[in-house]
Amino acid sequence: MAKDFINLTDFSSKQLLALLDRAIADKALLAKGKLPASLERKTLAMIFEKPSLRTRVSFETAMTQLGGHAIYMTQADIGLGKREETKDIARVLDRMCEGVIARTFSHELIEELAGCSSKPVVNALTDYSHPCQAMADVMTAKEHFGDLAGKTIVFVGDGNNVARSLAVACEKLDMKFILACPAGYELEKSFTQSVSAQSYGCTNDPVEAVKKADVIYADTWISMGQEEEKQKRLNDFSGFQINSELMAVAPSSAVVMHCLPAYRDYEITDEVFEANAQIIFEEAENRLHFQRSLLNILIAEGGIG
Ligand code: CP
Ligand code: NVA
Repeated sequence: MAKDFINLTDFSSKQLLALLDRAIADKALLAKGKLPASLERKTLAMIFEKPSLRTRVSFETAMTQLGGHAIYMTQADIGLGKREETKDIARVLDRMCEGVIARTFSHELIEELAGCSSKPVVNALTDYSHPCQAMADVMTAKEHFGDLAGKTIVFVGDGNNVARSLAVACEKLDMKFILACPAGYELEKSFTQSVSAQSYGCTNDPVEAVKKADVIYADTWISMGQEEEKQKRLNDFSGFQINSELMAVAPSSAVVMHCLPAYRDYEITDEVFEANAQIIFEEAENRLHFQRSLLNILIAEGGIG
């Protein structure tokens, strides 16, 4: 049984598919008013070193819907590794709460938290990865297409945390992931060599890439923590905007997804964003449904088996 949810690479295809099916089933139960309050009197600690709308609200709402409670803490509140050592914070939360989610800059920090805690720890985004986002994304694609096997996601933008997690999700779910990025923004070799050559591709030509897309995926060109590189990145990514010219060469059945927040007229135009708003906001909503099932499995059911 896995107690934590930190790296998608820790799980088999079968386990990830089971998590998706469970999230889709629980979403339907909630809609019928039949989702049990399985986390009554349970508390989730939520640590955020970076800003958040979706991640905070989805985890907090998930706990409310399951009859439990969530506590939101920023770095200014607890001083992770500054006011107090990470291992001490982990051991205190371990005594009072039933689970922890954390959004940290350093990926090693969340692994340290998980190592010091006997309770479930969930990755709510690090500089390295964003597994809950990737799972909500593939859940949305599964609802849209019915089946994921053989589908291609073309990620137009930066080889970043979201791209890394989506690439792993695609490999595990028999999909193809293509990163279309400017030279110098590719994912590192140690990562790309760890995913299978059939499931992963990378190009510096977005026009060629989107011709094969079932999903065209956007994320910001400037991730949290990279604000000082803004001007350089705006220049480097200028040919990588998802706009009507790019959409004109994509298959007409292709949909655009975005993890949000979206920066109009940088990575995507308002026109393309609004034309795909229905699936983009379903994707945002699915953060809630995926994470609620995940918390249920990790906290109430003893882990991911
Ligand atoms: N997509 C996502 O993680 O959004 P937030 O940064 O608002 O949580
Ligand atoms: N790559 C983005 C994702 C935001 C949800 C970031 O890390 O800021």
